[in-house]
Amino acid sequence: MRNSFEILLLPGDGIGPEVVGAAREVMDAAADHFDLEMRYTERRIGGGAIREEGGPVSAETLDAASASDSVLLGAVGHPDFDNAPVRPEAGLLGLRKHLGAFANLRPVEALPALLDSSPLKREVVEGVDVLIVRELTGGAYFGEKEEGEERASDLCLYTREEIERVARVAFDAAKRRKRRVTSVDKANVMATSRLWRKVVTEVGEDYPGVELDHILVDAAAMYLVQSPKRFDVMLTENLFGDILSDEAAMLPGSMGMLPSASLGKPGSPGIFEPVHGSAPDIAGEGKANPYATILSAAMMFRHTLGRPDVAEAIEQGVSVALEAHYLTPDLGGKKTTEEVTKAVGRWVAAGEGVI
Ligand code: NAD
Ligand code: IPM
Ligand code: MN
Repeated sequence: MRNSFEILLLPGDGIGPEVVGAAREVMDAAADHFDLEMRYTERRIGGGAIREEGGPVSAETLDAASASDSVLLGAVGHPDFDNAPVRPEAGLLGLRKHLGAFANLRPVEALPALLDSSPLKREVVEGVDVLIVRELTGGAYFGEKEEGEERASDLCLYTREEIERVARVAFDAAKRRKRRVTSVDKANVMATSRLWRKVVTEVGEDYPGVELDHILVDAAAMYLVQSPKRFDVMLTENLFGDILSDEAAMLPGSMGMLPSASLGKPGSPGIFEPVHGSAPDIAGEGKANPYATILSAAMMFRHTLGRPDVAEAIEQGVSVALEAHYLTPDLGGKKTTEEVTKAVGRWVAAGEGVI
């Protein structure tokens, strides 16, 4: 088993440095317990990089990402750049494209300790376990753009190959779960969605043990809050996946709970980051919920670093801390980012017990 890792940390803007710092502390606790050697390099991305380096992600940072074993990212974005010609978000999109991170896994679990943190009824959320598989390097995000005073456009383009490779990720994941893929599209209106549906159906033929259904994205948005337990793996394109995953964050009860893994070809470093943004409204106040980033670090150990044992330890530390009511304000509690982080870290370092 490997035990020495080079991690590129990209804290970014707003609460990014707070939540990445928290995840680093928990990774260090795991290093103590599992005798790992973690080597970190930290670089800028987003608004901070525009200010200090003249662009949202430098060529050196992209090279450092390619050379690392894996990348842990906080968040990018700041209101100062709302009308700027170059936006912080372009740095993240550039990094995803550079690393070929086409499959974004966003697991959504209603953990028992959080059933009262969700705005939805307990009976609706209890037992929810959905994996959103979002295509991440295609669609309207990356199509040709025109931006003028009188007209603007974002080309939404998908190729068969782009759809096929992400569909395989979803079906492979379903084989290890409840063997059900729900593909979400807008095939009643969009040409890209009709190709999406056709290709996903064809890929599904290679997975006879996995049940496939197709639903339209507007209905999917409704089912997610009406009957989320109908979903196992939800496969969708870039923009729909972005929107549906924020909606799904209300199942556990907060944006601060959803981790993610953005994966490319086997052997590539991947990007691990919370689903939430830079939350400028609470930055610097010690209120940021670090669980999503800590759980993203766990996903990094599982998906890229080949250490599922470390991932499980971190996930257990999170469950124990939640059970012990280490809840930040977004979850209805009063704990600070630091208190939550220390609680998870204590458990992970000890590998057992109460916190
Ligand atoms: P946001 O996710 O930053 O915040 C939405 C709401 O959720 C806010 O009320 C915020 O306080 C709360 N929230 C988010 N994460 C939280 C956490 N960990 N703990 C507690 N509360 C949390 O979305 P937004 O306000 O629409 O966007 C702010 C900026 O972030 C924008 O510039 C946007 O482009 C950027 N953004 C970046 C990413 C990313 O880097 N991956 C993701 C989404 C948005
Ligand atoms: C996300 C974010 C990003 C996206 C932005 C910041 C570019 O909202 O990771 O969900 O839209 O993909
Ligand atoms: Mn988003």
